[in-house]
Amino acid sequence: MTSQVRGAQLARLLGQWHALPGRRRSPDYAALAGAVRGLLADGRLPLGVRLPAERELAEALKISRTTVTAAYRELRESGHLASRRGAGSWTMLPGTHRVASTGLWTPLDDRDMIDLGVAALAAPPELLPAARAAAEDLPRYLGGAGYHPTGIIELREAVAAAYTARGLPTSPDQIMVTNGTQHALDLVLRLALAPGGTVLVEAPSYPNALAALSARRARITTHGLAVEEPGWDADLLLGSLRQVRPKLAYLIPDFQNPTGHLMPAPLRERVVATAHAVGTDLVVDESFVDLPLDGTVLPPPTAAHDRHSRVITIGGMSKPFWGGLRIGWVRASAPQVQRLAAARVGVDMASPVLDQLVAVHLLAEAPAIVAARRAQLTAQRDALLAALAQRLPEWRVTVPHGGVTLWAELDGPISSALARATEEVGVRLAPGPRFGLDGTLERFLRLPFTLPVADLVEAVDRIAAVRYDLDRGGRPQWREPAVIA
Ligand SMILES: Cc1ncc(COP(=O)(O)O)c(C=O)c1O
Repeated sequence: MTSQVRGAQLARLLGQWHALPGRRRSPDYAALAGAVRGLLADGRLPLGVRLPAERELAEALKISRTTVTAAYRELRESGHLASRRGAGSWTMLPGTHRVASTGLWTPLDDRDMIDLGVAALAAPPELLPAARAAAEDLPRYLGGAGYHPTGIIELREAVAAAYTARGLPTSPDQIMVTNGTQHALDLVLRLALAPGGTVLVEAPSYPNALAALSARRARITTHGLAVEEPGWDADLLLGSLRQVRPKLAYLIPDFQNPTGHLMPAPLRERVVATAHAVGTDLVVDESFVDLPLDGTVLPPPTAAHDRHSRVITIGGMSKPFWGGLRIGWVRASAPQVQRLAAARVGVDMASPVLDQLVAVHLLAEAPAIVAARRAQLTAQRDALLAALAQRLPEWRVTVPHGGVTLWAELDGPISSALARATEEVGVRLAPGPRFGLDGTLERFLRLPFTLPVADLVEAVDRIAAVRYDLDRGGRPQWREPAVIA
């Protein structure tokens, strides 16, 4: 499953490598090696990919081959490259870096803690009336056994209608209701991925999805997202699909968690076409699709480009409505839904009828509820951005135009150390490495804007206070990421 990065691609990723800060006195080969280490640490260059041959990279960078040879030698010595004569050189990280396998984010019960580890809103005011109305509806179901492995028809109709309204004609038999989007992912993986199968994911990506993939013992290959829009590099993403030919790719094209990026329509179309050509199934997680901000117009759903049942879409109520409902769904072909339902009865039989009825009532009022959520998120995002600009101006953030999180590029590889320090002052953070593999992404931090403004401002104050304490303790070198064991 070796994937190879070509000279021109690596040159593009390296960008202004010879102008990196602090390298004025270091020779070119050392700067080049340092820049490659930086790409690895940031998850932009995946582990286990073959680097271009020395001559090819020298031509692409317009430097001498000796410089590349020396840089590769230095990377081998620092444990970032493994080479075999005649076969090439592969990227790696020194030591056995592994992120803790429990990728779980669970909210804390500690009420004094400002929890920025969870990116989800409190319930909307419409929830309680919806729950009462659902209880009134319940008698209609009490005469039956209550097991509906694909979900109650009213909810499947409402979900299908929402897809159709987004330009993706969908019938209720293409919908299966699940206990949340995470459950949907797990079921899809059970069906579509044999243990040990190869999966392509974005880096960074949603930690609990990575946990679900680990549970399937998936062999994971990554596509590194840039901080800047659009995030995905079309050439590299499509190249990885063609080279690795993964069994499955898990993507979050709509306000990606954690970066907030929105995949442009042309790339969606090319990803679907390429996936079909190489035999890859696409699992598209639309958790945040209802939450565009700033009047952002959504491209057509990824599945709208699908003619061959290659795309399985998952989504749910948690982000626009409430996570505590535990209602999600899968949109697939009708036969796939039947297979998923058959797999599901071996796990949990069906979703609770009452919660599904609550979801039906909330979806009936979706336009008003979601409009209020967007207004709330916009105000909270802007307050968070303002607090960051004031208290932590050296951090770089790309303003997300949707979703509930922003991905901050820190001023050093301090994310895990910062998260440890902020626990002491009552702020729980999700450090960058939790969104990737192998201890990369230490220079990044996900910050959700789902809490009230006062909490967000207070949290940034506390983070800034310990950030400067960390400074006094001596700032680690950005090229040597602290690793989570
Ligand atoms: C991308 C993504 N997928 C899935 C989930 C899980 O959603 P649910 O609560 O519906 O299981 C989340 C929640 O944060 C998410 O961000």
